[in-house]
Amino acid sequence: MTNQVKIFDTTLRDGEQALPASLSAKEKLQIALALERLGVDIIEAGFPVSSPGDFHSVQMIAREIKNATICGLARALKPDIDACGEALKVADHFRIHTFIATSEIHVGAKLKKSQDEVVEMAVAAVKHARRYTDDVEFSCEDAGRTHIDYLCRMVEAAIDAGATTVNIPDTVGYTIPSEFGGIIAQLFNRVPNIDKATISVHCHNDLGLAVANSLAAIEQGARQVECTINGIGERAGNSSLEEIAMILQTRQAMLGFETNIRSQEISRTSKLVSQLCNMPVQANKAIVGANAFSHSSGIHQDGVLKAQNTYEIMTPESVGINKNNLNLTSRSGRHVIKHRLTELGYKTEDYDLEAVYSAFLQLADKKGQVYDYDLEALLFFDQQKHDEARYKLLYLQANSGREIIPSATVRLQVGDEAITKTAIGNGPVDAAYNAIMNILGHNDLEIVDFKLDSKGEGADALAQVSVIAEYNGRRFHGIGLATDIVEAGVKALIYVINNTYVADQIDQQKHLQERVAGV
Ligand code: KIV
Ligand code: ZN
Repeated sequence: MTNQVKIFDTTLRDGEQALPASLSAKEKLQIALALERLGVDIIEAGFPVSSPGDFHSVQMIAREIKNATICGLARALKPDIDACGEALKVADHFRIHTFIATSEIHVGAKLKKSQDEVVEMAVAAVKHARRYTDDVEFSCEDAGRTHIDYLCRMVEAAIDAGATTVNIPDTVGYTIPSEFGGIIAQLFNRVPNIDKATISVHCHNDLGLAVANSLAAIEQGARQVECTINGIGERAGNSSLEEIAMILQTRQAMLGFETNIRSQEISRTSKLVSQLCNMPVQANKAIVGANAFSHSSGIHQDGVLKAQNTYEIMTPESVGINKNNLNLTSRSGRHVIKHRLTELGYKTEDYDLEAVYSAFLQLADKKGQVYDYDLEALLFFDQQKHDEARYKLLYLQANSGREIIPSATVRLQVGDEAITKTAIGNGPVDAAYNAIMNILGHNDLEIVDFKLDSKGEGADALAQVSVIAEYNGRRFHGIGLATDIVEAGVKALIYVINNTYVADQIDQQKHLQERVAGV
């Protein structure tokens, strides 16, 4: 049996489905590109049948990503599988992932079917998916609570029907490592055709055991692990990709497994996902938390200075954290910025140096010293390619104080037109938001969450605003960054509005296609 473990990333599917607001297609593509560079083998890009937006983003990712297999999720139903086949056919390599629940509780209470009927549905789904591709994955949802006899029967039937990967999810994060490893061991002992497929695992973290269960499964023969960046996902989340990858790498001598993960990309990918998904990473999170490589106690600090490995089992550099204190100020030239970005792991094709440099100079003029996290924040916004956006901020003036009524004037570029409005509010951000709503000319956008944070340290840190707004029954997330709090808030709202505009375009296109097709 090979010692190569495939990393199947489901940040954009299981992870995304648990977010407070969905990602735009552009944001999903940005994450997919980062995952490709991280070296994941399979990217589960979404659930195409679930919405026109999901279909569109899976298709976009399938078109752009060349070095990973792109996968779409489908229930064991023909329309789901057809939507997957349709969205994925533009990819160089693609996989259809179809699933049905197998535990007694799911089969009886949720599906209201007999066990025989569920096997028939699974077999039919796998066969139907094989019409589109040779790469078909079948999942036994809630396998962790499925009777082992029925699980063996289902796995054998799915492989016979043509599944090339069979996934064993612990959907509700119920099992413990010895038990979950035991399930995998029994499958290898009892399913006669098991060698015809790769056995995969997909563990949820309800009891904090997702990574431990995945590892136990690998030790018993599983050769694909489904996981997400920062462990995001349904409820308590999924197995965390960075933890799985670093366990296999750090303990390679003992465990003997390999992955294709380029670990130096981990930190950057984690930050990107946290930022775009509006999911902060806890400071003491393994591998990617802010404190994962900081030493607090005097004894530990002394030890690390004498020999790094006294208290560090892996280096920060191995996960892409570069501790460098180059002084970046308005006197730093382009080449210094480019050099620092390269050290931080960015490739020149990732960003527009001129745009980043000019934003850097503006920031350096305001702040004096620019830090790595500032530079990464500028890059993040450059990657958002705001200049392609329909709504752009041209001008902002906000007034507030103790004895005055807060007011704001905002000028936005809206397509070819520049529109200016003034409004009052209960604070300068509220006033600016009212002015923007006046420019939009409708009130269909409801702000449901507004968070202000600082990026960096000290009073001159950049303000970062995260906004979630509801529009037409869906939630959209936006981020804004500026040295000024009101400007950061306004940028976050404009980000949201641009995403709602793109979502409207996709919906309209879909309706048009349906009308033409006579659906
Ligand atoms: O948790 C689960 O069972 C899933 C399946 C769709 C693989 O996410
Ligand atoms: Zn799941």
